Formats: sequence, C-alpha cells, structure tokens
Amino acid sequence: MIKLQNVSKIYPNQTKGLNQVSLTVEQGEFVAIVGLSGAGKSTLLRAINRLHDITEGNIEIHGASITKAEGKALRSIRRDIGMIFQGFNLVKRSSVLRNVLAGRVGHHGTLRTILGLFPKTDEDLAFEALARVNLLEKAYSRADELSGGQQQRVAIARVLAQEAKIILADEPVASLDPLTTKQVMDDLQRINQELKITTIINLHDIDLARAYATRIIGLRAGEVVFDGPVAEATDERFMEIYGRSLRELAPQEIEA
Ligand SMILES: Nc1ncnc2c1ncn2[C@@H]1O[C@H](COP(=O)(O)OP(=O)(O)O)[C@@H](O)[C@H]1O
Ligand SMILES: [Mg+2]
Repeated sequence: MIKLQNVSKIYPNQTKGLNQVSLTVEQGEFVAIVGLSGAGKSTLLRAINRLHDITEGNIEIHGASITKAEGKALRSIRRDIGMIFQGFNLVKRSSVLRNVLAGRVGHHGTLRTILGLFPKTDEDLAFEALARVNLLEKAYSRADELSGGQQQRVAIARVLAQEAKIILADEPVASLDPLTTKQVMDDLQRINQELKITTIINLHDIDLARAYATRIIGLRAGEVVFDGPVAEATDERFMEIYGRSLRELAPQEIEA
C-alpha cells in the first residue's frame, strides 16, 4: 500500500510541483496518472520513491514512512520499488543479462555489483525475468542492439529481477511507436495481473490510460483534480477539468 498524506513539493526556485496531495493506492492496483505537461506527474513519482524530498506531508510504503526513513531503513523500502523511465536507463554497452542483474544491486550493495559477483540464484531470477518479457534469446546481446521497445522490456525485466512490489513508470512508452507501445503496455499489465505488483504509470495519452488502467488520477498544477475508475474518465469530464482534450498533446510537451 502506498499512502500520501498532504504531500507538497516546492522546488528550490519556488515552483510548486505538488500541492497538498493525499491519496492511497492499494497493493495490486494499476493506476494511470494523467495531466498536461507540468502538472506534476513526474514530481509525484519521484516523491514516492524519494528520488527527491518533499517539502511537507508524509508518504508511507507498506506502512513505513519513506519520508522519514534514513540509511538502511530507506534502502530497504526502496528495494521494493522499481522505476521505469521514458529513456529506458540501460547501460547501453553492457549485455541484456547484466542490465537485468543490475536489478539485484539493492540486495547486495554496490561493490559486489561492480565486480559482477552475482550469486547463481540471481542469474536464475534474471533469466526468469527475461522469460516473462519474452527476451530470453537476447540475454547475451548488447543492450543497444535492441529496439526501443525491447530495451524498455529489458528495463521491466530489471524491475522483476529486483523483486519489486511496486513499479513506478514515468512515461514508459512516450518514445515508442504504437505497435511497440502495445507490447510494452501488455507486458506491464500482464505482470501486474500475474504477480500483483502495484503499478503506477504516468501517461500523457488518455486513451492508453483508459485501455490499461483500473484507476485514473488526474493532476493539474500539482493537485489531484480527478480520481476514479476508467468508466468515469470520459472526454467530457476531462474537457470540464482541463478546458481541453488530453488527446491533443504535442510530443514536445511530454518531455518536461
Ligand atoms: N527540478 C525542478 N526545478 C524546478 N521546477 C521543477 C523541477 N522539476 C519540475 N519542475 C516544475 O514542477 C512542475 C511539475 O513538473 P513535472 O512533475 O515534471 O510535471 P509533468 O511530469 O506532469 O510534466 C512544473 O511546473 C515544472 O516546471
Ligand atoms: Mg513528466
């Protein structure tokens, strides 16, 4: 369970990234966060795994405050949270297998990882993860030899090898074509359903959000302006909230 209580984030330049956000996500949910560019979607995901500190409020992960945790306690909470980024964040010159094994870092500390000393059980986990995203035969290819969609599925396998209980994905398909987008979203959905991994995905595409999520949260200017099931997330409703359709975003608006 992920619980945000009155969470605000003010950046050093005084920009308000989040303003008094309170919400709870139950284990196993598949939530899409939508909103225009600058709404606070990335800020929200980064706050949840404490890639940055929040200014006010509290965030609990499975009952433990990640806001207050330090050192070993913080690392232990983070181990349960896997991140997926728009740009895949793979080590391009390393093999697919090595990239997936990197998901084990949080379990061993960095020295062992640098030296490449992974126990056999880790390799088993990595191969199992690659099988789940149908990339077993690419295990020994260099990461940058794969297509964009395949690279994103390697990133998903890395999170699986991590044995994360929560996946946070920030615009995971924003740089992919429609067919590849479907493959990546199908993988995320299947993993969510089979392994009950709580999944929160930032998406600028409201149609995708409706096709895959079970719950949609709409942000505007750092505030939650919609939170409900897909059936209620109609175009009319979003026109009301945003004064424009969320389908008309130009790609350059996404990156911010
Ligand atoms: N590092 C930063 N420093 C200052 N302002 C930031 C920073 N990151 C994001 N912002 C601002 O915070 C707001 C929310 O940004 P962001 O979370 O990236 O939105 P989204 O992901 O929905 O496009 C925007 O006004 C953005 O300009
Ligand atoms: Mg963003």
